[in-house]
Order: sequence, then C-alpha cells, then structure tokens
Amino acid sequence: MKVQHVLNCAFSSWFPAFKNLSPQSFIIPLPKQFVDYLKADRVFLPEGSGQIQPKGREDAESDDEDYFDDDYEWNSTHDENRVPDFPELDKKIRSCIEELDGEVFPKLNWSSPKDAFWISFSKTLRCTCPADIYLLLKSSDFVTHDLTSPFEYCEDAECNRPELEYNLILRRWVNIHPGSEFRCFVKNGALLAICQRHDSEYYGFIEQNLESIKTDITTFFKQRIASQFVLKEYVFDVYRKRQGKIVLLDFNPFGPVTDSLMFDWSELLSDHPFQKSSTDVEGSEDVQQLPVFRYIRESESAMKPNPYAYYALPKDFVDLSLGTDPYKLVDFLKLQNSKMKNEESDEEK
Ligand SMILES: Nc1ncnc2c1ncn2[C@@H]1O[C@H](COP(=O)(O)OP(=O)(O)O)[C@@H](O)[C@H]1O
Ligand SMILES: [Mg+2]
Repeated sequence: MKVQHVLNCAFSSWFPAFKNLSPQSFIIPLPKQFVDYLKADRVFLPEGSGQIQPKGREDAESDDEDYFDDDYEWNSTHDENRVPDFPELDKKIRSCIEELDGEVFPKLNWSSPKDAFWISFSKTLRCTCPADIYLLLKSSDFVTHDLTSPFEYCEDAECNRPELEYNLILRRWVNIHPGSEFRCFVKNGALLAICQRHDSEYYGFIEQNLESIKTDITTFFKQRIASQFVLKEYVFDVYRKRQGKIVLLDFNPFGPVTDSLMFDWSELLSDHPFQKSSTDVEGSEDVQQLPVFRYIRESESAMKPNPYAYYALPKDFVDLSLGTDPYKLVDFLKLQNSKMKNEESDEEK
C-alpha cells in the first residue's frame, strides 16, 4: 500500500466523481487552528457551537477573505482556560446542516467518529449542531488516526509525506439498516470478496437473499465503479437500500489500515487468494468462484462481541468523570479510602 492509494481514498478525492451514487455531502476545509484544537487533549466545546446561538452571533461579520485567520480565538499556550471559539466554522456547519434538512453524519478525510457514538446524547452519529460534531470528533480514536497517522502501513510513508488539507465532511443523515451494509474488496480490478459490514450480528435475510445481494453488488461494481475509480486495488462500502438499489458509502485503501472484517489480510493479499491448498480433497475445484461472499450464519451468531464495545466506557466511569451523580463520587472516594486503610493495616501485620 502506498501513500498515493490512501490519498485516492480520501473523501474529497473520490466523492466528486461518484456523487450521484452516494448520499448528498458537503466538504468544509478546516482551518489549521481547528485541526490543532482537535489534536489537543482537552475536550472543551467551542462557545456558541450548541443548539442555541449566543446573542449577536447571527449578525457576526462574515468576511469571506481568509476568514480562517480571523476565526481563531483560542490559544492554548497563552490562556489555558479559554474555551476555543470558531464562529465562522460554526456558521458554515450550521448552513450545511440546514441544507441537509437538519441532520448530518460527520467524518474527516477518511474516518468517521464511529467509536465515539456512546458519548453523544442520541448514542448515534446523528448531529444537529456544531457542538454535536465537535464532541464526537474530539472523542474518537479513528479521527485521531486520520490526524496523526493517516499513512500508517504505507511502504513509502518515510519518503513521501504530503502536506495534507483536512476537511470536515457532512453527509445527509440516512437511516441505514446495518444488515444491508456490505464491504467489498477489489484486487487487480476485479471484485474479489464481499462480506457483511457489521460482522457481529446474524441477519436472516442475508442468508435468504444471498444470490440477489451478490448480483446487485456485482452489477453495481461492473457498471458504476470498476471503470471509474482510479485504483485497481481498493475496498468499497455499500448499502443495499432495496433489491436492485445500491448506495455507495465509502472507499478505503486495500491493506491492513482497513478492517478486513470476515476475511484475513493475509488471504486477501496472497498471490492466489481463496485457492484451495493441495491437501484439500482431490477432484474439488481449485479456485472458488469470485467474488467470495461471507456472512454470519445462524449457528455462528452469538460468537462475536460488538466491535466498539471496547470504546464504550462503563456508565460508572462516565458518571464519575462528568460529576453527573455526586453520590457515586462520594461512594467511590469512600471505597478508595477504605481500600487504602485495609492496605495499611495489612502492611502493619
Ligand atoms: N450518511 C449517513 N447517515 C447515517 N449513517 C451513515 C451515513 N454514512 C455512513 N453511515 C454509517 O456509519 C458507518 C461508517 O461510515 P463510513 O463513512 O464508512 O465511515 P468509516 O470510513 O469511518 O468507516 C457506516 O457503516 C454506516 O452504518
Ligand atoms: Mg471508511
């Protein structure tokens, strides 16, 4: 995998050529200061980014010429306690949200903050104001990866470090049934493999509609994707809205930076993927028919944990850290205190 492949999969690179196949979206260039704010450890939400705008904000000047410089009202080195403030960015976001009928799905150049859903009020990535977006972006490890190591696993990352422009992507919110999402792997320009996108669940209708799902995705790939996308190796994600209707969601690099879900990168990257070994029963076909389609069968259903469960903090931690339940904090301190006392008396024995 090369740096250029990762760049080709950035949203602003692929979206213009595929916008008719994908949910309506806006690309908002992010000022460097906002990127610094995202990278900083503290989780202050910019003043005025919430549902209700502070007084006077609606009339704020919109000086389009290099507004990014004027937009910056936060300096961590000079005043640690000031809340960052990005009024022009807030304004752009609000107007995009309005254009998209009030609800958006946010992401950066490559990744959405899907690991941070638990922190939002709605427990989803559905955002209705800038603060919803900032909180999710600031709480996500995937977003941090976009910001700090987008070229991880690239063999030429050492010698090729392009200057990156970061964008906030706002997409029209779509209610997507998770069982209708599929990840598709393309190698040498051919569709090699497909699997369900949410691989911790069993969805009965996948098993029942196997052939038509495969046909829909293969047709979509041949007619709309294969000859249009610049790379020959990539991963793309789709949502099958209904029979015969496929919606494109994303492109991802073909390599370990992308979750291979129900496949192993070692098998996808091997010279002859899915070829049976010589130890297999004689007379069986040498190569499986492509694309190989994997899905969770009923018997396998309860085996896999939710992939983001790891990111969801226990409610007790959240209550403690936010001070939402003061009694819990008192209990916690009492517990710590008695533990320390016990340890001291153990040492004395
Ligand atoms: N426009 C949208 N509205 C609602 N949910 C979406 C939208 N786009 C994507 N999703 C959901 O978010 C998940 C991740 O989206 P995706 O754009 O592929 O982000 P990533 O590249 O971080 O995986 C998808 O699997 C889908 O369930
Ligand atoms: Mg992706």
